[in-house]
Amino acid sequence: MEYKDLIARMKSVRNYKKDALSSEIIQKLRDYLSQSKRLIKDIEIEAMLKNRDEVYDKLKNIAGYNDTMLDAPHYLIFLSEESDHYIENTGYAAEDVRLKAYELGVGSCWITVNDGELIKERLSIKSDKKLTALISLGFDDNKNKVIYENVSEYNPSKADVSIVEDNVSERLRISDVVYMKKWGENADPDEVANLGLLEAFFYARLAPSTKNRQPWRFIYDDGTVILALRKDQNVNEYEEKIDTGIVMLYYELIVDNTLFNMDWKFGKTGKEYEIPSDYHIVAYCMS
Ligand SMILES: Cc1cc2nc3c(=O)[nH]c(=O)nc-3n(C[C@H](O)[C@H](O)[C@H](O)COP(=O)(O)O)c2cc1C
Repeated sequence: MEYKDLIARMKSVRNYKKDALSSEIIQKLRDYLSQSKRLIKDIEIEAMLKNRDEVYDKLKNIAGYNDTMLDAPHYLIFLSEESDHYIENTGYAAEDVRLKAYELGVGSCWITVNDGELIKERLSIKSDKKLTALISLGFDDNKNKVIYENVSEYNPSKADVSIVEDNVSERLRISDVVYMKKWGENADPDEVANLGLLEAFFYARLAPSTKNRQPWRFIYDDGTVILALRKDQNVNEYEEKIDTGIVMLYYELIVDNTLFNMDWKFGKTGKEYEIPSDYHIVAYCMS
């Protein structure tokens, strides 16, 4: 896949044409489900594609921001074995499938999961695995709306937005999300370029996140990149972990593509970096 191009262009699609996807596209998506990238290879994941009539009415008031279910011709559902970092692993794998769908001309949007067991019950899914992703799929009708209330004080320009008629998913700058050696020491993009990491951070910051709150920060410290995530009051643990898996995918895709094959390690390097109390270090990698 031409990941840079796909990442740069992909947006969440919330309004879909009624047309179903062709059987050819469905087959290509199904084929990709088992090959999609994984963060942790030995966690068992099951992915299924379902049609609107199997899903929409059943989940109408129980999934999505403020329980607002998105109406789409198809849905992608992920179930995962419960294990360390299994939610991040689904964020990583399912976002890779969203990029594949986009390559095939298919729009999609994450639909937040408030109660996975209830969703399984409503859809009569009998499985010991946890429901870890619900994603709408279909052709974009190009009438996008952002339907969330963005209450993040970190993005004041969008603080009062509840419904907008266009999809305005801006992103923070590299210098806002990348720090050099110390928390709050904003990176100079020229310095990041000299390290060969400009593209990796440029694309990583395009990662979608719950309510577009862009909760990730990176610290570059002598060849190590540390990933920290912000905990927000209006965001649940599930959402935070999916956001984490997605940004790990975006960063890794670009490093693999432009520099060398890398792997994230969950946990801390041992150094604390005096990060503020609403953030915590989740992972690190060598760069
Ligand atoms: C874990 C997660 C849950 C999300 N849940 C919803 C949702 O329930 N409804 C919705 O309209 N968008 C949802 N989104 C989409 C985000 O709002 C969107 O990705 C973000 O605002 C950035 O916009 P973009 O994807 O168009 O760049 C979710 C995104 C993530 C990562």
